[in-house]
Amino acid sequence: MKLPVTLAKTLKSKPDETQLGFGTKFTDHMFNMDYAPDKGWHNPRIEPYGPVAMDPATMVLHYGQGVFEGLKAYRTASGRIQLFRPQDNFRRLNRSNDIMCIPRFDESLALEALKELVRIEKDWVPRVPETSLYIRPTIFASDPFLGVRASHTYRFFIILCPVGAYYPEGFNPVKILVEKEHVRAVPGGTGEAKTLGNYAASLLAGQKAHDAGFTQVLWLDGVERKYIEEVGSMNIFFVLDGEVVSPALQGSILPGITRDTVLQLGRLWGLNVAERRISIDEVLKANQTGRLQEVFGSGTAAVISPVGQITYGNQTVTVGNGQVGPLAKRFYAAITDIQYGRAQDPKDWIVPVV
Ligand code: COI
Repeated sequence: MKLPVTLAKTLKSKPDETQLGFGTKFTDHMFNMDYAPDKGWHNPRIEPYGPVAMDPATMVLHYGQGVFEGLKAYRTASGRIQLFRPQDNFRRLNRSNDIMCIPRFDESLALEALKELVRIEKDWVPRVPETSLYIRPTIFASDPFLGVRASHTYRFFIILCPVGAYYPEGFNPVKILVEKEHVRAVPGGTGEAKTLGNYAASLLAGQKAHDAGFTQVLWLDGVERKYIEEVGSMNIFFVLDGEVVSPALQGSILPGITRDTVLQLGRLWGLNVAERRISIDEVLKANQTGRLQEVFGSGTAAVISPVGQITYGNQTVTVGNGQVGPLAKRFYAAITDIQYGRAQDPKDWIVPVV
């Protein structure tokens, strides 16, 4: 593949790797590619990181036609740099494109471009344990036009940022609030796409929960307000009497790659794994009868995020004495061991870069 590279004239100083938060520092270069109806996706290139100049009428700013992904590059103890299931991220990005009326791109070209970008930025992949280089592929509608229709032109970019823990709580159990008023997504909507508006739609509830002392909201289904869908911006798992349950994907839930990794590992370990509807009543009842063993979120950014407390109206349930449960620990260790090359990759999930 011909991928022109323009290197930055001056490089930024690297941040202190022991103080990395999430999503604040960006590397020296980015990938860019454009779409026009007569050319298709064209002009893939690596350029210095910099602002995207936009006409104020650019469609994404008005109608939110945009999609994105999140994945990471990891540095192993022996100095290799590797990606975890990147093909799945690009496949999901194209699926999000389908839902948002954005033209599909060539996934193998995107993967090759990403590998080249990470190679150029390899010194930005941090070395401190549990840090990584977060990768944000994004596609947005770029027509300067105010009529409501799908854009004719698009920009695809990939930016990179060295990151530490996503949640300041780290791996400590968080308190979550079951959201009774707002919903994140509905059947027939865009919930399964990784699209801008889903995150915008989650902000008010998230902010109210924060103000009330909770870390995240637990989203219920938009129709019956009974069935659990996601937690914050993560997928969710319950362990009920040894059964590992995640809500079934029915169009309003993001098909998480970490979610799928947990399901696949659970099955590999011979656990009783289920994707099914699970109601908040079932969870509360399981707690009363002592069957609720663990609750945890799964996502790229935090990997596994244990839940220690769930509040639903005036009821508050403490899960597993508020401690991190054994399966949350086991999944976190197993997934990160594969990602950082400390354990064998059982499913061909790792893609080496350097
Ligand atoms: C994740 O990786 O868990 C997320 O979806 C959060 C991301 C949007 C920052």
